[in-house]
Amino acid sequence: MSERLADETAVVTGSSSGIGAAIATKFAEEGANVITNSRALERAQETADEITANGGTATAVEADISNPDDAHALAESAIEEYGSIDIMVNNAGISVIEPAMEMDPEDWQSVINTNLSGVFYGAQAAGTRMIDQGTGGQIINISSIFGKIGIQGRAPYNASKGGVNNLTRNLAVELAEHDIQVNALAPGFIKTQLDEQTRESGDDEMLDEDNWPYYGYDDTHIEHRVPLDRFGTLDEMQNVALFLAEGNHYTTGEILNADGGWLAFGWGSKGR
Ligand SMILES: NC(=O)c1ccc[n+]([C@@H]2O[C@H](COP(=O)([O-])OP(=O)(O)OC[C@H]3O[C@@H](n4cnc5c(N)ncnc54)[C@H](OP(=O)(O)O)[C@@H]3O)[C@@H](O)[C@H]2O)c1
Repeated sequence: MSERLADETAVVTGSSSGIGAAIATKFAEEGANVITNSRALERAQETADEITANGGTATAVEADISNPDDAHALAESAIEEYGSIDIMVNNAGISVIEPAMEMDPEDWQSVINTNLSGVFYGAQAAGTRMIDQGTGGQIINISSIFGKIGIQGRAPYNASKGGVNNLTRNLAVELAEHDIQVNALAPGFIKTQLDEQTRESGDDEMLDEDNWPYYGYDDTHIEHRVPLDRFGTLDEMQNVALFLAEGNHYTTGEILNADGGWLAFGWGSKGR
């Protein structure tokens, strides 16, 4: 079977672990040249080494996506290494779990800087270069189901992902004339480092349903809330990202949920 991303170059921000590492690996398996990224070179290098060990092509680049200069240097590295930038995945994300009224302004700012400004800087760095190339492109922003609803203890995360959704629509409209499609992938619960932070958030008090608003969730809470009755897998996130990256879908400005039906389900829980 032919490779679905042959001759394409993809940059995946935050690809040292979790969903970003999985997407970078999948795109490389499908023939893309991949730039992996982390705030620390050695962590981005681990993913790049795994890709090259499996016969793929990858270069690791250190960049803090909340810094616009870093974002531009990251996008430029794709052109320096492989001659183009065709796919940009704005994946890097962090979370702080704290009640809104007690939120430290620095915590608020750090989440907004990475999750929202980082997506904008990444999209701008990639988009301007895609426009210069004149061959179109795909920008995929990793959002979250938490961008469409409010969840206690996640004020900056909710705000940042809601912002990513509407930024996606804005960019889709502005970049359409350049044949650049911009979509967001909104995962539900996938077991990663970040999700671990959510599932193990807080102490027992935070997991105590009698102590509303509680801020923590365990596996049972989540499985009972998901109509498909389970967490999503990295493999499933790879498949949705690949579908978006191929660009053969007449879809732009879309926020695609991959959540096992979490957002479709109006009731709180299937019983517990
Ligand atoms: N897991 C889930 O259930 C879930 C659900 C919905 C949405 N998401 C979203 O999916 C994305 C990936 O999350 P994940 O679950 O895979 O978490 P993860 O395993 O913690 O990965 C986060 C990645 O972001 C990188 N990163 C953080 N800040 C960065 C910065 N300023 N500049 C560059 N890279 C940075 C981290 O790299 P270093 O630490 O090495 O710098 C790491 O590679 C996030 O946007 C998250 O909000 C996840």
